[in-house]
Amino acid sequence: MQRVLAISNRKGGVGKTTSAINIAAGLARLGHRVVLIDLDPQVNASRGLGVTGVDVTLHGALLGEHPLKAHATQMPNLVVVAGSEALSGLEQLTSGVPNREYLLRTLLTPWRERCAFVVLDCPPSLDLLTVNAYACATELYIPLEGQLYAADGVSKVLDLVARIRQRLNPQLQVKGMFFTRFDKRKILRRETAEELRSQYPDLVLTTVIRESILLGEAPHLGQDIFSYAPESAGAVDYAALVQEILVR
Ligand SMILES: Nc1ncnc2c1ncn2[C@@H]1O[C@H](COP(=O)(O)OP(=O)(O)O)[C@@H](O)[C@H]1O
Ligand SMILES: [Mg+2]
Repeated sequence: MQRVLAISNRKGGVGKTTSAINIAAGLARLGHRVVLIDLDPQVNASRGLGVTGVDVTLHGALLGEHPLKAHATQMPNLVVVAGSEALSGLEQLTSGVPNREYLLRTLLTPWRERCAFVVLDCPPSLDLLTVNAYACATELYIPLEGQLYAADGVSKVLDLVARIRQRLNPQLQVKGMFFTRFDKRKILRRETAEELRSQYPDLVLTTVIRESILLGEAPHLGQDIFSYAPESAGAVDYAALVQEILVR
């Protein structure tokens, strides 16, 4: 069965896009067919995989102008549905459209047989785009930057998940949270990690993504970390995270 992974947190800058790209690439690298969907009007996931200047994007597909179209990346088996800055206007443009929470879910129906995994890079806001993501996801992963108050956004995400499960998508499961940009020399971060592990014992994954300059560089060259620096700490960490996700 196809797995649809939403990568989401209400906070910006916590590593959602970096994780969406490299989880998608990590799965593709193992031979799974993967489509990454860029739901953030900041378009970082598309750009980070070298998909720029395309006119067929998620925006037009959500508005019913054309089917969902994906673009190739450097990683075999990984394709991207490009995002668009115009996505920030979706809420207004679709007011009055019935069942607009299910627009993405409907678009993905023909993709059930085409891809084993769909990875959704969500925006930080919990608006219609995120609701569309949660309404079609089978599972949710929350990247956390290991800082004080890292848990704050989490309760809001979990509240939204509870509402979506009731109203729109009973299938949706929160499968895990993981730390990104982790620097174990920083005591503050270590304590935050321990605190979250005790608060959500079943959800905090074992793998932590270390702080690594190469992870920040790769998207500037339109590459995932496995293509850019296969021996790097970032590649090792995301490969481990993918293994953990595969057995959850
Ligand atoms: N493990 C990491 N090590 C170093 N830099 C990182 C790491 N993860 C993310 N970054 C950088 O931090 C910034 C925010 O990450 P990003 O994935 O865009 O977060 P979000 O999508 O949650 O806003 C980006 O500049 C990214 O390159
Ligand atoms: Mg992002």
